[in-house]
Amino acid sequence: MGKTEISIFILLVSIILLLFISGFIIFIFQYRKRKIIHEKEKQDIEKQHKLDLLHTQLASQQQTMQFIGSEIHDSVTQKLTLASIYSQKMEFENIDPAITGRLGKISAIINDSLAELRDLSRTLTDTRFQDMDLAALVKAECSRVQESGACRMVVQADSHREMSVTVKSFVLRVIQEFIQNSLKHAAASQLSVSLGDTDEGLSVAISDNGKGFSVQESVSTGIGLQNMKRRIQLIGGAYDLQSAPGTGTSLRIFIGNQHLLSE
Ligand SMILES: Nc1ncnc2c1ncn2[C@@H]1O[C@H](COP(=O)(O)OP(=O)(O)OP(=O)(O)O)[C@@H](O)[C@H]1O
Ligand SMILES: [Mg+2]
Repeated sequence: MGKTEISIFILLVSIILLLFISGFIIFIFQYRKRKIIHEKEKQDIEKQHKLDLLHTQLASQQQTMQFIGSEIHDSVTQKLTLASIYSQKMEFENIDPAITGRLGKISAIINDSLAELRDLSRTLTDTRFQDMDLAALVKAECSRVQESGACRMVVQADSHREMSVTVKSFVLRVIQEFIQNSLKHAAASQLSVSLGDTDEGLSVAISDNGKGFSVQESVSTGIGLQNMKRRIQLIGGAYDLQSAPGTGTSLRIFIGNQHLLSE
């Protein structure tokens, strides 16, 4: 073999080797890319599955509440109304003042219970949830707390953004759990809730002036905080809970426009 032929041979071998190595690299690259896409699809399916599950739970919870509400209204309150009528009749007919006084007390207790049950039944069968926007629901929730005298509520809810029932109910449940925690654990005297629109999405800020806690070190058997975070992550939102002993607790949530209508 002459020198030229050897050179051509080496060149050909090098080209083949180069082609082989490039092909191998491309193959590995494509394989990895496909694996990443596959993993991403798997995660998306899992996420959608969890969201569907929560959606079903929410719907069945709503149905159960409606059922209990209707039962209270149609059965228990009817019977208590009868009991109230009987006791009032006896109170009216009885001539012994000592017994009349006690019957009056029984009547008053029955009537109080009736009023409370009617309220409960109305709350449980409430269908306004579907029709009201988040701002109105949050304002109603805060008014209830303020009226109970448990805590002073400062509310600013100007957002009238369109959003899916899932997003609306998840954000409301998170706000409700935060309020419950502030009342149960923080001994807070004031709670601030604000809902606002930005060009990019919906932002929610809620804070209490209570005793605070160490978020990292807190050991609890409760599931409230976990649920709050899970719900917001499931609808693709950002969740930031801040607290430290002596500084109160605050939570910021942000849900981008692209996630607001997701079911
Ligand atoms: N706003 C707050 N102020 C002070 N401590 C808080 C506050 N929120 C939560 N914590 C602390 O974090 C712990 C965990 O709260 P989480 O809501 O998960 O559980 P829980 O309220 O105890 O029970 P659950 O919500 O399941 O009924 C609480 O037990 C409490 O110690
Ligand atoms: Mg809780």
